[in-house]
Amino acid sequence: MRERGAIQENAYERVIRDRQEFAERQKAGPVVIKPSDREWEMTRQGKLLFYLHPEVHKDTPLHDWLVFSLDIQTHSGKHRHQGGLVIYILEGKGYTIIDGERVDWGEGDLILLPIKPEGVEHQHFNADPGKPCRWVAFLNLPIMDFVAMELTQVELSPEFKQQTS
Ligand SMILES: [Fe+2]
Repeated sequence: MRERGAIQENAYERVIRDRQEFAERQKAGPVVIKPSDREWEMTRQGKLLFYLHPEVHKDTPLHDWLVFSLDIQTHSGKHRHQGGLVIYILEGKGYTIIDGERVDWGEGDLILLPIKPEGVEHQHFNADPGKPCRWVAFLNLPIMDFVAMELTQVELSPEFKQQTS
């Protein structure tokens, strides 16, 4: 039996509900995300922990960001995508090969991936394998759409290959 006065679902009602859910997330969603709230995953690009991923973590107030950490043992996979994002080095020493050019970095540094017509090919290396080497990346998804970001895996991370062989 239908409730008296119940409004049938339609696209407009969906908009109202989406906005209510957005407001609810701002009031009640978690505003501190701890690594212990998340899980490390072995991916084609390496060992990743996503703090924010709107498709995976639906309860967070902010859905416009991908924020994730990479734990580099020896080196990451190699991939190509558009720039327009930043990577902050949490721990360790390493370097990134960006379109064939090596850039060195260490704890506290910030890497900027530039915006180029064909995107940017890159791969991250731990300069001291055996010592911890971790960074965290911040991608604003509306910006990624505006710069028409695509993502192409060029080479697999060695740990991923090991795990799947
Ligand atoms: Fe990347």
